[in-house]
Amino acid sequence: MSFSITSLLSQHRTDKFSLHERYLNAQMVKVLKTIGYDRNYQRAIGQYLYDESGNEYLDLLSGFGVYAFGRNHPTVINALKEVLSLEMPDLVQLDVSVLSGLLAKELLTTTPDNLERVFFCNSGTEAVEAAIKFARYVTKRNRIICCDHAYHGLTMGALSLNGEQIFRDGFGPLLLDCGSIPFNDLEALESALSSRNVAAFIVEPIQGKGVNIPDDHYLPEVERLCKKYGTLFVADEIQTGIGRTGKFWAIDHWHVKPDMICMAKALSGGFVPVGAVAMTQQIMESVFNRMDRAVVHGSTFSKNNMAMAAGLASLEIIKAENLVENSAKIGADIISGLNALAGQYEFLKEVRGKGSMIAVEFKSPSSLSLKAAWMMLEAANKGLFCQMITIPLFKEHRILTQVAGHGMNVVKLLPPFILTQKDLDHIIRAFTKTIAATHQVPGSIWELGKNLASHALKARAG
Ligand SMILES: Cc1ncc(COP(=O)(O)O)c(C=O)c1O
Repeated sequence: MSFSITSLLSQHRTDKFSLHERYLNAQMVKVLKTIGYDRNYQRAIGQYLYDESGNEYLDLLSGFGVYAFGRNHPTVINALKEVLSLEMPDLVQLDVSVLSGLLAKELLTTTPDNLERVFFCNSGTEAVEAAIKFARYVTKRNRIICCDHAYHGLTMGALSLNGEQIFRDGFGPLLLDCGSIPFNDLEALESALSSRNVAAFIVEPIQGKGVNIPDDHYLPEVERLCKKYGTLFVADEIQTGIGRTGKFWAIDHWHVKPDMICMAKALSGGFVPVGAVAMTQQIMESVFNRMDRAVVHGSTFSKNNMAMAAGLASLEIIKAENLVENSAKIGADIISGLNALAGQYEFLKEVRGKGSMIAVEFKSPSSLSLKAAWMMLEAANKGLFCQMITIPLFKEHRILTQVAGHGMNVVKLLPPFILTQKDLDHIIRAFTKTIAATHQVPGSIWELGKNLASHALKARAG
């Protein structure tokens, strides 16, 4: 049989958009073409993507945070090649594997000392589903509390805990007995927990949508209140974990000890889907409490050797290359470099973050001509201003960034932890030019703004 991915790719070098239009989600192609992100990337290495003309793009999106140490890291590639060449027995199912045992052991050296067991799955949302089920089983309570604007994934259970209406609309009724309270609000938490019917409070230590950082006393008090009312404290570190915020876990900034930590994304270096929940021994032994319940929760592909090997290689890279420290330093440099612009440019509200999880937030300006332009965009679609930042950053400076969430004027950066000084200088220069251009009204960027507004109004009209 002559089957070759290389020849398939070379036969279909320019077919990806038509394939997706015909066989997958055509709306995604429409979005890419509308905002001018329709590139034919051919190669990816470290923090860079390369298109067919060899143009280099600096990736500050990192596949929504999975490429914490860059793309195609040779150590992970070698680990995966080794697994394949060893012809290992994988997914025997009526067996247990060495690699998953080793990865669990290694992971638990990074978590607080109350966590002593690991459950593996295939994605972030599956980790959240597991935490929900385990919390219900252990506490014999139904209710789960989350935070407004939370994002915990899109499967039915996790979606029930999603704080953004757009993700939920039309998919209901959702499954869980759950409630949502404002983030960083301890009074609301205590009032939600005091009925003593809440199985778990699940919270991102720093919220991904908008990069919202809690007050320093918040998470320690969350831990105390959860203990007081018999509720399990679940930290969703799917985005914030594995060095993203400049500590191995974001909870390390506040020295708290959750009952469960959900993780995924960077855990396999972006090569193989993976997710996990670290938990107390008591939770594991309560859910898996009899031999006839040994497979009471799980998934066929979880603990597969490729994911486990990629996980082990990833933890090694993070240690060997001091990437947690790098994440802290790179992030601090970007935040201070961009914050220095705040006094000069009315649209720029603030740049905040921890480590390499960064929000660049914009605001309504005070001068009249700028304000009128801002209001035109906000009237068309709240948060549209950010597209006037992300699109020129991409088209003119070849920097890939994202808007931090629906209806907010926040651009989010999740850079790999390996940026060089040259990359940092490029980021500051590109943001400065782009932000400066938004202050030229009328100007070419506002032609883009008008276009975006008219697209948004048309979309709204249906
Ligand atoms: C905090 C958080 N939780 C859960 C998820 C869901 O993870 P996945 O997309 O792997 O299902 C995400 C994904 O962005 C996330 O950021």
